[in-house]
Amino acid sequence: MELRKIQDAQVEGKTVLVRVDYNVPLEDGRVLDERRIASSLPTITWLADHGAKIILLSHLGRPEGKVVEELRLDPVAKSLETLLGRPITKLDDCVGDAVIDAVSAMKPADVLLLENVRFHREETTNEPTFTHQLADLADLFVNDAFATMHRAHASTVGISDHLPSYAGILVQAEIQALSPLLESPQHPYVAVVGGKKAQSKLGPLRDLARQVDEIMIGGGVAMTFLHAMGIDVGASTVDHKVLEEVDEIRRIAIQTNTTIHLPIDVVAAAELSPDSEAKVCSVNDIPDGWHAFDIGPQTVQLFLEQIAKAKTIVWTGPMGAYEIASFSTGTRDIAVGVAQSDAYSIIGGGETGEAMERFGLAEGASFVSTGGGACLALLRGKTMPALEALRA
Ligand code: 3PG
Repeated sequence: MELRKIQDAQVEGKTVLVRVDYNVPLEDGRVLDERRIASSLPTITWLADHGAKIILLSHLGRPEGKVVEELRLDPVAKSLETLLGRPITKLDDCVGDAVIDAVSAMKPADVLLLENVRFHREETTNEPTFTHQLADLADLFVNDAFATMHRAHASTVGISDHLPSYAGILVQAEIQALSPLLESPQHPYVAVVGGKKAQSKLGPLRDLARQVDEIMIGGGVAMTFLHAMGIDVGASTVDHKVLEEVDEIRRIAIQTNTTIHLPIDVVAAAELSPDSEAKVCSVNDIPDGWHAFDIGPQTVQLFLEQIAKAKTIVWTGPMGAYEIASFSTGTRDIAVGVAQSDAYSIIGGGETGEAMERFGLAEGASFVSTGGGACLALLRGKTMPALEALRA
């Protein structure tokens, strides 16, 4: 895929609006995972080194067009200042007179962070007047928000109709890393799919079932699959609305000769708490009222055997509640297997990347994508509206 690249733009003395994805987890006014912010530094530094005035624009969460105090970007600004090693200016809106004034006072290499763009309803509806207000702030547009490229919003797609638009350095790296999986993945190609919610993984699973050789399913997603197969999963969360879709995915997998591997044992507990008594049991013996919070050791073995044979791996979604030590073994063991494998491995999604990082294994993967939904959308062959807007 040929993109117009930031390196081909004349940016000296120009005001450049950069769409970044700073949709990061926060706790008590602090950024818990800075990876998305750190990933934007190469583009910011390149622009600063080439004499541009840099305006950064991002969303955070889903405030649905209202100002939500907890979703302001001030903690992000602090984190960015520390990572950049110099002060930046953070504003309390992304359009309006105060923004126009601040932009006109900028000097080359200055960095201005605008407020959460989703505080305006017109962002997600890609409303033309709002798009104009944003575009009027700058001479050029750079999209470096890979994780938001599947969204056709004002700040991801609309702006490109009004300004010369380029792909940032992160977007280029993501496309380069993911392209081998789209063009000619080496087989065996295996997918490891987990996470809490079945709903969000069914579309990807339907498409992956046509592309890969083996699918290993863990996390909450697996519980819905097991339930659909008539297994009593105790009090584990099951998404009853999607059981027909699960059957359809199983049918597709049979037609395409793709094997779906599900847990045979789990780590179960009565409550999701570090103090709960946890025990390993077969998926057929989850005690009444107990939940599966991790895959069990036999399942880990089964999944690792497939990972060891793979030449291409894509992993999205943890195998359990890895943030709690007693439910982290499944995710950690799979992370070790992926890190030790010689296969070309892509880690998609915030939580899975965070898990690899937490276990000190991120370097072992071929590439850790900053995108969750966006990474999967690209791998499924979906059109990415914001990426289309950057095609050369
Ligand atoms: C993400 O975290 O996947 C991106 O920031 C996109 O967020 P969204 O799903 O709220 O559009």
